[in-house]
Amino acid sequence: MTKILVTGGAGYVGSVSAEAFLAAGHDVVVLDDLTTGHREAVPHGARLHVGSYGDGATVARLLTAEGIEAVLHCAARSLVGESIADPARYFRDNVAGGITLLEAAREVGVDRVVFSSTAAVYGVPDATPIREDAPLRPINPYGETKRSFEGALGWYGRAYGMRSVTLRYFNVAGATEALGEDHDPETHLIPTILRCVESDRPVTIFGADYPTLDGTCIRDYIHVADLADAHLRAIDATARGDSRTTAGAVVCNLGNGGGFSNLEVLAAAERVIGSGIPHEIGQRRPGDPPVLVASADRASEILGWRARRPSIDDMVGSAWAWRVAHPAGYAG
Ligand code: UFG
Repeated sequence: MTKILVTGGAGYVGSVSAEAFLAAGHDVVVLDDLTTGHREAVPHGARLHVGSYGDGATVARLLTAEGIEAVLHCAARSLVGESIADPARYFRDNVAGGITLLEAAREVGVDRVVFSSTAAVYGVPDATPIREDAPLRPINPYGETKRSFEGALGWYGRAYGMRSVTLRYFNVAGATEALGEDHDPETHLIPTILRCVESDRPVTIFGADYPTLDGTCIRDYIHVADLADAHLRAIDATARGDSRTTAGAVVCNLGNGGGFSNLEVLAAAERVIGSGIPHEIGQRRPGDPPVLVASADRASEILGWRARRPSIDDMVGSAWAWRVAHPAGYAG
């Protein structure tokens, strides 16, 4: 049993990970300021502390009082468009706030960290599937801030013996029975399609003139429950004495190694709903790379992880089941 602090544990990925940690017998404390998270998403059995990971004194006190051994750092600002409009918010929260969290951990002797990073650190890749040693050339402040924090983890590992696993998520989708995706604003493709179905509005597909088979962008989708399983394995890999993190920082992509085009995702949603979904082709969305597909080999080699639920119909189906059970999201 490990005592784990999950920052952002009231959010989509954090709550599902907290749920998986509890199911595996770990003790879970959630730190979330509830600006984008939902109190109702914190799983039963986890203790919620409302506050910011950027408040070092509070974090240090919490780590000590709860006897925390490892941190899953999921909390972040994570909207690409917003990051371009207001980079200061991203550098302040994701970088300065993140370093404050690391400093508090170091101060009280917590040396195990799992970090939620993103495919956005790669920018527009030269080749797919993308390997972890591909050049990091983020094209927006969101990706830049994630790259900065990854860099800090690498150097903290060398200098201070901090053991970390950074997981670069590709496109996370789906839901568990109790926990799902409830963002405001919602920008992601799958929940947007489902909301359009609910409100009887056509879906806008951003661009159909990309150099792909059907002209729409291709993304590598991973079920949120698979992501949580990777987090569980990553926490184990940071244990003292585990040779995988003796040298400090490890970085793994989390994806399926394959992708679906936006029209293929729409077709999956039509199969799940059992009827056609009206859509229109709109302008390209600025900053969208045509194809983002992960090489998932390293996660398999190092963490023994592979996606167990790679079916796009399963991902969309579980997201739809959660929407049907929670028509107003967590507010309902
Ligand atoms: N899309 C539409 N219509 C919509 C919403 C999205 O066509 O209403 C398209 C997008 O243009 C893109 C694809 O669906 O081609 C996927 O878009 P998402 O917003 O669902 O996801 P992204 O691939 O843009 O974002 C993901 C992660 C980000 C990360 C980014 C890296 O969610 O955190 O990959 O580029 F930064």
